[in-house]
Formats: sequence, structure tokens, C-alpha cells
Amino acid sequence: MTEGRATHGARHVAIIMDGNGRWAKKRHLPRAMGHQRGVEAVRTLVRAAREMGLEALTLYAFSTENWRRSEDEVSTLMGLLKRYILADLEEFVANNVRLKIIGDYRKLAGDIVELLEDALARTAGNDGTTLVVALNYGSQDEIARAAASAAAKGAVTVEGIEAELDTAGLPPLDLLIRTSGEVRLSNFLLWQAAYAEMVFVDTLWPDFTPAHLAAALQDFAGRERRYGGR
Ligand code: FPP
Repeated sequence: MTEGRATHGARHVAIIMDGNGRWAKKRHLPRAMGHQRGVEAVRTLVRAAREMGLEALTLYAFSTENWRRSEDEVSTLMGLLKRYILADLEEFVANNVRLKIIGDYRKLAGDIVELLEDALARTAGNDGTTLVVALNYGSQDEIARAAASAAAKGAVTVEGIEAELDTAGLPPLDLLIRTSGEVRLSNFLLWQAAYAEMVFVDTLWPDFTPAHLAAALQDFAGRERRYGGR
């Protein structure tokens, strides 16, 4: 487990990592450079999440809608994902980080599916921070799949559907952060966000640091959560 319950009180944080393209554009660099720097921000933040005692960090890496981007950009993102897992898997293993994927990742290229399944198997026994990567993920698709599974079991109830979501078994979502100034959910964790707190920051994703995460957690710690009660 992570080092005790952290003082901010959050167990599960999710992030919509937005603004890689604008980060690159501002610097007259190719979009791919923005994504590359975005991966550096991921690497640093995963380490910080562990140190901050989060049980789960969920990152929106590739949505069901991202297939509409150019072939070149899709292949850049896939290449970066592959390199990140290859480079950091030993660190996950050493630091008790468990990898989990949400989304229909089996539709990705065969070599990536193989790499991900190896990483999932090698970290499955870890019980420190869970790094949840959303890949080929769309919340409406997830809910539809979960509802169909629940119906097949004759259990179309809130609990029955929840048990079939890709996030089943993770702590409830406490805090959802979106970077780059956009204020929308973009088909991410719609069910799970029912009672999550939300923080929207103007920072572009490649510039997002552990200090930004700490500030969002501090903001979260100051909020009163009533879950519809009084
Ligand atoms: C949004 O920026 C970001 C993405 C669509 C992908 C996020 C992916 C990464 C950070 C890299 C791969 C992930 C992992 C976990 C290794 P945008 O391109 O929509 O930016 P823009 O809105 O400024 O154009």
C-alpha cells in the first residue's frame, strides 16, 4: 500500500490531459513534440502521485474519438505509448505500481496489445498506486458495454452496472482535473464523475507539474462533499 492515507483525503484522481498541440504551436514546434513533452509530464506525475499517496491515477490517453485524427498523429501517439511502457515498466515493478487499462484496448495494434498485456501481468500483484490508462476509451461505450453485461446477468441496477464498468474495483473517483482551459468532460468517466469534484486549470498539459496536482488536491481538501445530502 501507499504510505498511509494522505492528508488531502483523495484516493482517486483522474486527468483529462489536454493542450499538447497548443503547447507545441505556441513554440512553432510540430504537434508530435507537444505529445512527446506530454509523456514527460505523465512520467513525472505518475511518480508524484505515488509520493502523494494516491491509490489510483487515471489518465485519458486516447479516446474512441481520437481515431479521427490524422494517421500520422495516431501513429505518433501509439509510438509514444509503446515507448513509455517499455521504458518505465521496470520502474512500475520496482515501485509497486499496478497498471490497469480502461477502454477497449484490444482493438489497438497487435504489438501494443501484447506489450500492454505483458505489463498488466507483470504488475498485477502490486498494491501501491494503480496507474489507470484510458485507451480507446469512451465513457458512453463503456456504459453501454457494462449495461449489456449487467442485462445478461439480469442485474440492471446501479450496483449491477457499476460492477461491469471498466473501473470496477477502483476506489470511487474523488477529483477530476482538466488542463488547457477547456471546461467539458469529452466522454470521460461520465458515470464515475457523478459525485467527483472538478478542477479546471488553464495550464497546458506539458506544463502540468506535481505542484499543479498538489494545488488541485489542496483545493479538493477544502471542499465540502455532500453527495446530494445536506
Ligand atoms: C491532448 O492534447 C492530448 C491527447 C489527445 C493525448 C494525451 C496523450 C499523451 C500525453 C501521450 C501518451 C500518453 C501516455 C499515457 C504515455 P491535444 O492534442 O488535444 O492538444 P490541443 O487541444 O492543444 O490540440
